Amino acid sequence: MTNPPPAPEPAAAAEAPESTASGDPQVPGPRRAGEPRRPTLRSDLRASWPDGLVALVITAAVFVLLYIRIRNKTSSTVTVMPFMADAGGFWMYFLSQAFGWSALLWAWGTVVLGLMLSGPRPSRLPLSGPRLERLHRTTSLNTIALIAAHALLFAAELVRHDTATWNSAVATAFVEAFVPGGYDSGTGRIAIPVGQAALYLAIPLGLLFYVRHRIGPKTWRVLHRCVIVVYVLSVWHTLLYGTNVWYDGWFRTSVWLLQIPIAALLLLRLLRPARRSEKLPGRPGETAKARTGWALRLGGRLAVVAIVVALVAVVASGRDGGRSVPPDDTSSTHNHD
Ligand code: HEM
Repeated sequence: MTNPPPAPEPAAAAEAPESTASGDPQVPGPRRAGEPRRPTLRSDLRASWPDGLVALVITAAVFVLLYIRIRNKTSSTVTVMPFMADAGGFWMYFLSQAFGWSALLWAWGTVVLGLMLSGPRPSRLPLSGPRLERLHRTTSLNTIALIAAHALLFAAELVRHDTATWNSAVATAFVEAFVPGGYDSGTGRIAIPVGQAALYLAIPLGLLFYVRHRIGPKTWRVLHRCVIVVYVLSVWHTLLYGTNVWYDGWFRTSVWLLQIPIAALLLLRLLRPARRSEKLPGRPGETAKARTGWALRLGGRLAVVAIVVALVAVVASGRDGGRSVPPDDTSSTHNHD
């Protein structure tokens, strides 16, 4: 990843939330003393450690919880895969799961922050606009790192349990964890590529921010908007493949429940965008192109209303796609793979 050299730019454009300025250098000119530089990947990586540290502490706590549940045989991971009852033997797998949860939590948080920056946000927030914007960027960077750790630990666990020579074990694990289609059994045939798609899209869509002065603010904004797809893929991957949310129950329902605020914020962001130019006018324009654009934008807003309603229905009914817990004697007939 190349680091764009910090270029002079007015403070307001550099640090103002993207809602008020484009977040891009519009007016070139010499930087005055005390004015902040345009954030670079390097400066944001440097600023990422506090929330990265919090993420690591949370990951450690989740790991301990998962480990204890395996040891006490109360984890549904063991119900799905009885051979995993050996907590010490599969600790890397459980650590990978823990990183998966912190990655999902950070993805949730950074999406909430992003929607608050581009839509309405509470007037009484403890953080100023620029600080909120920086937190959005650092939590995004940490989300990518957490997903990478989750996938790498999964690959490492595959290597550990492979009896082939180390180089062939590493090659197989790499293909299974990182190459779409490389994992070819059970639910993983779909779930793993979904997770990989989330990771591979998150990297460019997140990091393009640092070269937005090269690609143009408009292109960057349009591309960055697609980042919501990364989040949807992440949630899909989790609900499809996570053995801790494999069966019906309150934990699986809670993961669904957490999606309601995201959908509601997305709806608010569409109805009351921070950039005035993104508001949906009361009536379509005169030309055919303007009318089509207007209808599409209206359709998008209605689709998000439908998603909010669907999420509420799923949570209220508890019909959230979870499997039924098998009776004890058939618990070994699982199909996680
Ligand atoms: C290269 C990409 C990825 C790979 C290879 C991968 C691999 C896996 C595997 C093998 C599992 C099953 C673990 C279990 O038995 O529960 C899993 C679950 C999970 N993954 Fe991923 N994943 C990837 C991307 C992602 C992404 C992008 C996220 C979210 C931001 C994520 C979050 C999770 C979560 C929360 C679980 C549930 C863990 C549990 O049930 O305890 N993963 N992933």
